[in-house]
Amino acid sequence: MHSSKITGLGFYVPKTIVTNQDLEKMFDTSDAWITERSGIKERRFFTEGKDTVSNMGARAATIALENAKLTPKDIDFIIFATLSPDYNFPGAGVLLQRELPFREIGALDIRTQCTGFIYALSIADQFIKTGMYQNILVVGAEVQSNIFEMSTRGRDFAVLFGDGAGAAVVQRTKGEGSKILSTHLHSEGKYAEDLMLEHPGSKLKNRMTPQLISEGKHLPFMRGNMVFKHAVTRFSEVIDECLQANNYKIEDIDMLVPHQANLRISKAVQDKLNLPDEKVYNNIQKYGNTTAATIPICLSELTTAKQVKEGDLVCLAAFGSGFTWASALIRW
Ligand code: UT7
Repeated sequence: MHSSKITGLGFYVPKTIVTNQDLEKMFDTSDAWITERSGIKERRFFTEGKDTVSNMGARAATIALENAKLTPKDIDFIIFATLSPDYNFPGAGVLLQRELPFREIGALDIRTQCTGFIYALSIADQFIKTGMYQNILVVGAEVQSNIFEMSTRGRDFAVLFGDGAGAAVVQRTKGEGSKILSTHLHSEGKYAEDLMLEHPGSKLKNRMTPQLISEGKHLPFMRGNMVFKHAVTRFSEVIDECLQANNYKIEDIDMLVPHQANLRISKAVQDKLNLPDEKVYNNIQKYGNTTAATIPICLSELTTAKQVKEGDLVCLAAFGSGFTWASALIRW
């Protein structure tokens, strides 16, 4: 049977850096609160007319393709994870398909928010294992700075989330060495409304009304504290699950790449699993939570800095809206 491996990574973040001090000037918050509660110091915000989810994805993909020594023509399938596509429909995958000289290949959008990249990677892995495709482009990209309100009402989200894109080329491999060992996907839809953006949706005859806007129902909603608690439990469970599935122990992990939701969540998971600092990668300090993009951005930074190298055991894990949670274990 075939296996798959990640052969190229790339990322793009918009040029505009927004610091906690910048946010202090816009609404009632403080650098001390944001740093203490989330670890975030700054994030990137897109520039209208320049950055879109699909063109940021294309910039990340261009670098990933170069690193994999492939051209867009070599790609057999696109999987695009995002909660913030350019349009309600069609999806971001087809918009990426026209950004670069790809063939007329399939393009699939994934809508599992923070776990989007791992879900997409899992799908890529399955398509390659069955022999259907050889080279798949997996992208996670978000423009979120225009979803929330820069106000005290919107501050839960405004301090945590940012914009950015990451991409990975996933290729068929026959070798026993570097490969994706397994992926594990979960959901618990009973918590769908605890982290959501409800409107505009298809439940109402009038998808958007002035009343919905004045009530703030067009803004994302989150029970932060509850999400936090579930996240710590599910992260630990799903990391254990992928280790057990492959007969490894926690000390075998060379690098854990947690979805960047909150530095305190990452630290709590790290403490629970008793992992040393050098085995857990975090960059939320610089970019905030870029949802589907956090993991490929982390992986891209890690491989560029050679902090992850061939032979390492790398664990990816994520938790988010849905609730969904997921992990992947990779022999790099
Ligand atoms: O990627 C997955 C999606 N999201 C997550 O994983 C997020 C998970 N949750 C979290 O990261 C945390 O729950 C937050 C960072 C969102 C909040 O931290 P917390 O420690 O759970 O704070 P809290 O919501 O319990 O709020 C504590 C206080 C409240 O004031 P009172 O009621 O104690 O007087 C809030 O009104 O902090 C206040 N507050 C703020 N103050 C300054 C809430 N947001 C802010 C803010 N700036 N941005």
